[in-house]
Amino acid sequence: MQRGGSIGGNGVRQRLARAVVGVGIGLLACSGGSTPREDEPRHRTATAAEAGRSIGAATCFDCHDSFAGHHITSPEHSDCESCHGPGERHAYTARASDIAYPDSASCLACHSAGERAMLTWSTSSHVRTDVICSDCHDPHGREPDYVRLADGPATAILPRAGESSQLCATCHPAVVAQLGLPSHHPVAEGMLSCGDCHDPHGSVRRTGAPATASCVGCHQEVAGPWIHEHLPVEEDCGHCHVPHGATADFLLIASEPGACVSCHSIATSGAVHDPFAFATPCSDCHGAVHGSMSDPHLRR
Ligand code: HEC
Ligand code: HEC
Ligand code: HEC
Ligand code: HEC
Ligand code: HEC
Ligand code: HEC
Ligand code: HEC
Ligand code: HEC
Ligand code: HEC
Ligand code: HEC
Repeated sequence: MQRGGSIGGNGVRQRLARAVVGVGIGLLACSGGSTPREDEPRHRTATAAEAGRSIGAATCFDCHDSFAGHHITSPEHSDCESCHGPGERHAYTARASDIAYPDSASCLACHSAGERAMLTWSTSSHVRTDVICSDCHDPHGREPDYVRLADGPATAILPRAGESSQLCATCHPAVVAQLGLPSHHPVAEGMLSCGDCHDPHGSVRRTGAPATASCVGCHQEVAGPWIHEHLPVEEDCGHCHVPHGATADFLLIASEPGACVSCHSIATSGAVHDPFAFATPCSDCHGAVHGSMSDPHLRR
């Protein structure tokens, strides 16, 4: 933690030095095992009421000189006040309450158009539940994408998972629990990440895309095209599978024949079967459950 490296004799710089030490200790305490207090706000979006005019980054560097160069790596993010708002008053008082922390609107001022536009953000569950950009991004942080690291204790939840999945896990304990069930997608093992199936800036399912879209990229072999298709496979893998984890094998919503009899009852298809067939895993006979090139009854 190096903040405000040039600590001179004047009062303002000594105050800055104390503030810097305070921040440093806070982070150390965090990685040393303490968890955030329940009543601690997840994020601060101070709005400095009478912030004054914009004064330009050069003045900010007078006191925050460690931010020059290496903390802001993209030239597009080099104007401090584009995110923190005007800093005239703060530069005079050096009080934290006189400078704003960015909320999502500050980011969207630029990220609503062009290549880096977050066009799906307004439909996201995250915007509806007051999760903001800086919950996941620290623009003073690491490239690429400045995605935050989960803090020390949080990384212990999924120690072998990718860093962005560890961040997601801090707020989604129910999903983490599902990932520990006997049959599960190997996110905890680091083989895939939450972001392979979800866009954190969008809705749970990408708008307009078929429900199978997030699956077939990795499981093309089951998706066909088949000569004899099984209609629900075309429509939504979720008719038979859960995405995160299950107690039934193969991530099935229920063990066979449970996963099948919700649609195929003895009444409708029992007649062609041996009386015991409906007590047997259907795929013992209907092995080509996703589709077949040769058999309309999906047996091979
Ligand atoms: C005269 C010195 C000085 C100047 C100039 C200055 N700051 Fe600060 N800044 C400080 C000090 C000291 C603190 C720590 C205040 C505290 O924690 O009480 C601080 C804290 C901050 C914080 C953290 C606020 C918080 O809630 O913890 C931000 C953000 C910030 N400054 C941004 C800026 C920006 C942007 C500029 C330029 C527009 C700027 N500063 C110019 C001295 C300065
Ligand atoms: C792209 C947006 C963006 C720009 C540009 C930006 N900041 Fe920040 N800054 C943030 C966010 C977001 C936070 C809050 C991080 C957090 O919650 O920990 C922050 C936090 C800070 C803090 C508090 C200490 C810390 O790291 O948590 C200081 C000081 C600060 N910024 C100074 C600056 C200065 C000086 C500049 C210009 C060189 C600048 N910022 C440019 C987004 C920005
Ligand atoms: C002044 C306009 C502006 C503001 C305000 C702004 N950004 Fe950006 N940001 C950009 C531009 C332009 C790029 C594209 C940089 C590039 O492609 O190299 C970018 C790139 C990014 C990237 C991708 C970096 C990468 O590695 O490609 C992230 C993440 C990001 N911004 C997050 C944020 C967040 C979070 C905020 C608010 C706290 C924010 N931005 C505020 C203009 C802005
Ligand atoms: C729930 C966590 C989360 C939130 C909230 C979030 N992001 Fe991201 N963002 C990520 C992750 C993770 C990545 C890394 C690439 C990926 O998985 O899509 C990323 C990537 C990016 C990128 C670079 C890649 C791209 O798609 O262009 C930009 C720019 C960006 N985010 C901007 C924003 C802005 C602006 C906001 C707020 C409106 C925001 N993000 C809110 C998690 C988040
Ligand atoms: C700061 C906390 C926080 C972080 C970090 C976070 N989320 Fe969320 N997320 C929420 C909240 C709150 C909701 C809305 C309530 C819910 O459905 O759990 C939500 C909702 C979602 C939903 C939609 C649920 C629905 O029913 O519509 C998905 C998908 C999701 N998050 C994925 C992610 C992914 C992927 C990441 C990591 C890139 C992530 N989240 C990181 C807090 C967070
Ligand atoms: C293999 C793809 C995949 C992976 C990996 C994945 N998800 Fe999901 N997730 C889905 C699908 C598909 C749904 C939609 C389920 C439905 O409602 O039909 C979903 C639903 C959700 C929901 C909505 C609530 C719920 O439980 O139904 C949240 C929140 C969520 N995922 C978060 C996460 C997080 C956090 C991670 C990583 C720790 C993650 N997901 C990993 C595919 C995935
Ligand atoms: C990023 C790639 C990826 C995506 C996207 C993905 N999967 Fe997977 N899937 C995997 C991996 C890796 C495994 C584990 C394979 C192994 O253990 O051999 C797996 C395993 C499975 C299994 C078998 C589980 C078992 O117990 O053998 C099923 C069923 C499955 N996925 C269904 C889905 C569904 C449904 C979706 C969409 C919601 C989906 N997958 C999206 C990579 C992916
Ligand atoms: C009609 C129910 C059903 C639907 C819909 C379904 N599956 Fe399956 N799936 C099964 C059953 C039953 C098994 C285990 C038995 C088997 O493989 O024969 C299975 C196994 C799997 C496996 C692991 C074994 C293998 O064959 O590779 C993967 C991966 C898989 N499904 C992915 C998907 C994907 C992706 C979709 C959507 C495109 C999907 N499934 C739709 C019933 C279904
Ligand atoms: C969401 C409902 C649904 C589920 C769950 C489902 N099916 Fe189907 N299945 C269908 C529909 C719809 C058809 C097409 C019926 C038609 O064309 O007359 C079909 C067709 C079939 C056929 C071919 C019928 C024929 O004409 O010979 C077989 C075999 C079959 N399913 C087996 C299974 C098995 C095994 C499972 C469980 C792993 C299963 N189904 C789960 C809806 C479902
Ligand atoms: C012992 C092997 C066997 C088992 C187990 C079995 N089936 Fe079949 N199933 C068949 C055969 C053989 C046919 C084709 C009969 C024919 O030639 O018309 C068939 C046909 C079907 C058909 C199409 C019949 C129709 O009504 O046109 C459906 C649907 C079906 N099975 C569903 C299931 C489901 C669901 C299960 C599990 C609950 C299941 N089967 C278990 C052997 C089996």
